[in-house]
Formats: sequence, structure tokens, C-alpha cells
Amino acid sequence: MDNETAAGHLTRKTVLRAALAAGMAAPVALMGVPALARTLTDGTAAPALTPECDDGDTPTPEQMEGPYFKPDSPLRTSLLEAGTTGTRLTVSGYVFGLACRPISGVLLDFWQADVNGAYDNTGFRFRGHQFTDASGAFKLTTIVPGLYPGRTRHIHVKLQAPGRPVLTTQLYFPGEPRNNTDSIFDARLLMTVRDVGAAKEAAFDFVLNVPQDPGPTPTPTSTGAPGGTWAVGTAYRAGDAVTYGGPGYVCLQAHTAQTGWEPPNVPALWRVA
Ligand SMILES: [Fe+2]
Repeated sequence: MDNETAAGHLTRKTVLRAALAAGMAAPVALMGVPALARTLTDGTAAPALTPECDDGDTPTPEQMEGPYFKPDSPLRTSLLEAGTTGTRLTVSGYVFGLACRPISGVLLDFWQADVNGAYDNTGFRFRGHQFTDASGAFKLTTIVPGLYPGRTRHIHVKLQAPGRPVLTTQLYFPGEPRNNTDSIFDARLLMTVRDVGAAKEAAFDFVLNVPQDPGPTPTPTSTGAPGGTWAVGTAYRAGDAVTYGGPGYVCLQAHTAQTGWEPPNVPALWRVA
């Protein structure tokens, strides 16, 4: 039943996402998991997993704050200002707790470089905070940040659920050459990004270390040992096929496998075959 286990975990959150986007109540959506899952799992945007949804997964990894954070950013979901140049980018997603349930009222404080790779350290250009809505969703409107020496392309963010500790982390872009040389880069923090005309739309779901009542379980929870042909240390190329925990996966971009980058954890690197 390994296939069902892993596939079920993947689809549970896919369905949750879709249900949330459609404004449905999560428990109602979960009753329709099998049918919905088949129609939604097109393989290119399998969501990251959470500890309660899958065995062995962890909350969104922390990353260093870096030297350019400033407190008291403006409350705004768009960082675009008059005269802003650069490729338009939206980053949207949900913030979940440990039981795959969305969290409303989560503070997200974003900061990033401008198109030239520079941070505004005197004002608040490309800095802003917002809160997840009642469905746990957020959406940032900005530009693709420029590169600066020593780092790959990234967006900084701090998240804080009400009454909980701050999670400081960074988001990354697939297909960036410097992802291979930036020692801070973590594939678990890769967004899924697609081109829409001249703009880009990115998606990422955060998982915070917030205990939650797990609620109804939509799929069997048996936990087969992962196993499969995927192996740490292997240099995979786009198109390579592996198995992990039962299901097969196809590599989306070249990388060397590391612990924590197992196929279900890094949807930007692997899609379900
Ligand atoms: Fe930075």
C-alpha cells in the first residue's frame, strides 16, 4: 500500500489548497479526496508535505535573516511603486500548521533586493508586511529580485502566527544557476514559478510549527518505509526517473540529492510520474 500512502499524502494538501482557493470549508473538501485528487495532481505543482500529512517531514526550514532586515515595514501586499522596474512577480500560497490546517492572521514580513540587487536600507522600498486571510492565504505582488554578489536569487520573509515564535526564512527560484553554488540555498524553499505573459507567478505554502487538532483523516495513515531508487548524493538530471516510498517521480531540474530533499519534499525538483 506504499503507493496509496505517499500519493494520499500528496493529494490531501493538494485538495486542501484547491478547496481553500474555491472558498470551500476544508472538512467538506476532504470528503472528496479521491476524485478531486485525480483531477488536480497534474504533477507540476505537487505541494510540500507537513509532519502530520506525511511521515518524517518538518515545518518550513529556517534560514538566516541576513544583514538587511528592517523592522516596521509598511502594511501592504504590493511592493510596486510608481516607476518600479523589473519583471512583475506574484507570490501566493497558504500558511499551514502541523495538521495541514490553514492559519489565519499570520504576519508575513517580506523584504528583497530591487532589480539591480540592492536593498533599500534608508527607506522601505521592497519591504512590506501583510496577514493571511481567513482561509490562511497570502499574496505578495512585487518584482523578481535582482542578484547581488555571493547569493542566488531569493526573497526574505519572516512569519509569525498569533502568539507564536517568528520563523525567518528565504524563498528561492527554480532554474537559477547560482542555486548550485549558494551555500545557504535550500531546495525545500524553492517556489514553483510559471510565466504568465511577461510576468511570473510563484507559489509556496509555508508550514509553521503550530500544533493543531488533526481533525478527520481523509486517507489511510499506514506508513511504509520510504525506500526506492532515490539516493542521497546522486546527481540527477532533468527527466531522470526515481521511485521513493512507492510512487515514481520525474526530476524537473538538475541537482545533487541531499537529505531533506526527498522527492515529496521538493515539488520544484520532482513531480509525481
Ligand atoms: Fe538577501
